[in-house]
Amino acid sequence: MAFEIVLVTDDMKLRKLKSDVDFTGKRVLIRIDGNVPIQKGKVVDGPHGRIARSAVDIDWLSQRGAKVIVLSHLGRPNGKRVASFSLKPVAKRLGGLLKSRVTLSKEIIGPKVVKLIEQMKNGDVLLLENLRFDAREESNAPSFAQALASLGDLYVNDAFAVSHRAHASVDAITSDLPSFAGPLLANEITVLSKLDKGLKHPFVLVMGGLKIETKLPVIERFLTSAEKILIGGALATTFLVAQGFAVGKSVYDVDGIKEAKSLLAKAKDKLVLPIDVIVASSVRKDAQTRCVSVDAVKPNERIVDLGKKTLARFEDELECAKTVVWNGPLGMTEIPKFCHGTIRVAKAIADRTGSATTIVGGGDTVPVLEAVHLADKFTLLSTGGGALLEYLGGKKLPGLEVLDSE
Ligand code: 3PG
Repeated sequence: MAFEIVLVTDDMKLRKLKSDVDFTGKRVLIRIDGNVPIQKGKVVDGPHGRIARSAVDIDWLSQRGAKVIVLSHLGRPNGKRVASFSLKPVAKRLGGLLKSRVTLSKEIIGPKVVKLIEQMKNGDVLLLENLRFDAREESNAPSFAQALASLGDLYVNDAFAVSHRAHASVDAITSDLPSFAGPLLANEITVLSKLDKGLKHPFVLVMGGLKIETKLPVIERFLTSAEKILIGGALATTFLVAQGFAVGKSVYDVDGIKEAKSLLAKAKDKLVLPIDVIVASSVRKDAQTRCVSVDAVKPNERIVDLGKKTLARFEDELECAKTVVWNGPLGMTEIPKFCHGTIRVAKAIADRTGSATTIVGGGDTVPVLEAVHLADKFTLLSTGGGALLEYLGGKKLPGLEVLDSE
């Protein structure tokens, strides 16, 4: 199989398919991450969602004559068939995006699947049911990987978002088939690898969300190279608690206070924490809000967003940045009224794109960015949640290691 090798980092050469390969009649197994929220039986996946972005590459294979067999997981069904984790809504979404029927195979492996594949015409797309319905997916079992591999002629990993998992459809399968990085995955790694080599300064890291333990490796890794680290969201509240401020009924990471204290001791000058916040008496959309200094939060109030002075400070820091990495919402973005800070910071980062490399973690923030038409205004809107944090934290991702041709 013709392929090209793309040097993407100092120590990794990803095997990537050439853009002009003819796949006519080839059975291509493509691993995507269709793990998106399901609400009332429908996927929550906008134009920049994980499924929409994978569909582009599925279409690319289909247009080049491949018989495309799509692999994905959804949720954590723990090795059992759980109806609410069926990929039925994902098949529907894919079919809508591709404007053609996407058959969902109820079986993942075995003779019935083989039969379905035999009936496929060139360009057809078949989605196999949730891989995690079989416990051998998560245990990286060679028997499951071999059974999957026997269904195809080649394997494409287009799921950066699950490449931190050493699972059979990500890791073991590559021992049994010629394996390549898909375009979506390769693009993510190409942009992310700029953080290893040729990082431009000033470099501003923006961190939000809740759990400090998932963000800590990222902050630690860039503590020396980043000029400033802007902290928002519930993560910032944890730092406020660590500094001794009363935060009323705010959500924060109770288990993360020790880590926050040690970071403050190590890097107080680099951390930019809120000086004022928006507080609300409840988390209802009609809640009364006010902007207060961080030392004036009342016991019955909760912090829901960044305050005006903090936002101005964040915008100042971003104004000249040449590299920006942002992960995690900066307020309670589940409620549109509390998205203001996240949107202002998103705009400030988007304004830098072109002059700066701007890398934004997807996940919870994608719907907010889509709503204000900013989702395509960054160098990279990553599909990764945990995978992105692990990559940024300097970990080797098993799904990438097995595509390395070194
Ligand atoms: C994600 O949503 O981050 C990926 O799909 C991985 O899911 P997991 O954390 O359940 O392995």
